[in-house]
Amino acid sequence: MTYRIAPSILSADFSCLGQEVRKVIEAGADWIHFDVMDNHYVPNLTFGPMVCSALRPHARTAQGQAVPIDVHLMVQPVDALAGAFAQAGADLISFHPDASAHVHRSVQAIKSAGCRVGLTFNPAEPLDVLDWLIDDIDLILIMSVNPGFGGQSFIDSALRKIEAARRRITACGKDIRLEVDGGIKLDNIAQVAAAGADTFVAGSAIFGQPDYGAVIAGMRARLRTG
Ligand code: DX5
Ligand code: ZN
Repeated sequence: MTYRIAPSILSADFSCLGQEVRKVIEAGADWIHFDVMDNHYVPNLTFGPMVCSALRPHARTAQGQAVPIDVHLMVQPVDALAGAFAQAGADLISFHPDASAHVHRSVQAIKSAGCRVGLTFNPAEPLDVLDWLIDDIDLILIMSVNPGFGGQSFIDSALRKIEAARRRITACGKDIRLEVDGGIKLDNIAQVAAAGADTFVAGSAIFGQPDYGAVIAGMRARLRTG
């Protein structure tokens, strides 16, 4: 299993986001998780496509290799902004199916804009749309908190949902990432991986500490040893 750590810049220092992105990549981040909130679908407001395109040149390793920008749209409606993020250099775009009137159309639009596409499930949201869409997507994003804010506690029922999502991925046989978002810390990451997740968003756990590299290395060590 190739695990990915995706630090959420929601908890970074907004006064110097470019520097924060470079720092967390140097510390070992695999993806940059970019939380887009619209004060409508969720009761908070963050950043839009212009900030994504400003950060795109910073999302590179010291060797110059591009690091994927993992856009998590918490917006309603979905389609216009998803298109703007594709233009702004997003690599993956995930959205909440309950925020789109035509989920299949939104998925196809993101793919045809050249991005990998994910579906995101709130804690009380069933996985049912996957019956019809799993063959079309690249990523399932399980929310282990209610979307809108960093620094919340992990909701335990997400573990059962991760297991259910993993079963669906195995049954469909396609290479689909299973990402978990919310309340991931050093002390629960191994349990979340054991449930079947392979990609871990972490905001406050990483940006809340002075040494980002130590946290990311600690997470990888726990993923290795279980
Ligand atoms: C919440 C966001 C998360 C958030 C996670 O709506 O989607 O990505 O940044 O933050 P932590 O890791 O602090 O729970
Ligand atoms: Zn997120």
